[in-house]
Amino acid sequence: MINEKSFALGNTGSAIRELFEYGKKRKQIVGEDNVFDYSIGNPSIPSPSIVNESLIKIIKEVEPTKLHGYTSAVGDQSVREAIAKYVNETYKTEESANMIYLTCGAAASLTISLNAILNQGDEVITFAPFFPEYRVFVEKANGKLVTVESKKDDFQIDFNALEKAINKNTKAIIINSPNNPTGVVLKEKTIIDLSDFLRKKSKEFNNVIYLISDEPYRELVYDNNTVVPYVTKYYENTIVCYSFSKSISLPGERIGYILVGHNCMDKVMVYKAICGAGRALGFVCAPALFQYMIPYVLGHTSNLEVYKQNRDLLYNSLSKMGYDIIFPDGAFYLFVKALEEDAIKFAEVAKKYELLLVPSNSFGMNGYVRIAYCQDPKMIERSINAFKLLMDDYKK
Ligand SMILES: Cc1ncc(COP(=O)(O)O)c(C=O)c1O
Repeated sequence: MINEKSFALGNTGSAIRELFEYGKKRKQIVGEDNVFDYSIGNPSIPSPSIVNESLIKIIKEVEPTKLHGYTSAVGDQSVREAIAKYVNETYKTEESANMIYLTCGAAASLTISLNAILNQGDEVITFAPFFPEYRVFVEKANGKLVTVESKKDDFQIDFNALEKAINKNTKAIIINSPNNPTGVVLKEKTIIDLSDFLRKKSKEFNNVIYLISDEPYRELVYDNNTVVPYVTKYYENTIVCYSFSKSISLPGERIGYILVGHNCMDKVMVYKAICGAGRALGFVCAPALFQYMIPYVLGHTSNLEVYKQNRDLLYNSLSKMGYDIIFPDGAFYLFVKALEEDAIKFAEVAKKYELLLVPSNSFGMNGYVRIAYCQDPKMIERSINAFKLLMDDYKK
């Protein structure tokens, strides 16, 4: 008998992918320009030119057996040093290259980190709405995912609800800021309060509680006054799961890293467990060419102005029509209150107007839809009238 859990995972497609496939079929029927597909978080702006320039330079200059050969299992030393230097200079912290492990993106960073720290029955708390793969990653690492709803007024952490959920089995908390699906950035005060809370609870339960900071959207913030706190500076037992997928529009190349925070307790042991989990999962030696690219692209982003314009156009137009939306500081998502209680039904009604919106049930919360606005601005403009017709439908 094959592994039933794995079969079940492979057999049930993701709701987001299904909607995307539906969109492709609809486009064949009603025409490419008449479907407003907001389903998938695939970056829609090209990588900055430094990406291709550096890749060409590396291909020309690096000796082929090195270029296409294995690096160290944990990643090339000089690349890890460049990352540590960049992080330390940018965020004024004291991270070490020896605590960095290069991975195939945030998904690999998360699965490796969870497998490194979890024992059978350990619990991991995350805040709804959340990236649906957290459940898959935690359960495959023999853990149990416990979800706590964020506060509905600002989608910051609800500490009363967290207090009820945390217990002696809690091994880790996953945060994701800027957030998928809300676009909300956790405020510095929230991170400080969370750090104090976790310190208190670690003492009470006599356990280390890790804070896993899932950061594929770190650089995707649109207003100058928005600060995404660097979590290792606030809480000692932090593991950062970073990815270049969104910041420089490279999701298909699979490159990112794990960083064990400088003040993490027994950090050498934690790092060794990360190396062990990476080994057991087969995630050793992230793609070499893209490792060598990293020192060139640190600090660069795709042209975020396009996402900002998309966000502003959608947020302003939809708010004016009467949609209830939490203002997103970052990522490339809008989280919109459904016009009826059942978000799945609402998303079905939206399809009448060729609007493909993801019901929030996929993210562990009912009552909202996610709009991924990493789309062609022309499609966004064309879609505005469809949102108006959808609203009118509910006013009838
Ligand atoms: C919150 C969150 N975490 C992790 C990932 C996985 O990112 P990657 O493509 O780097 O594996 C995604 C991708 O959409 C995401 O939205």
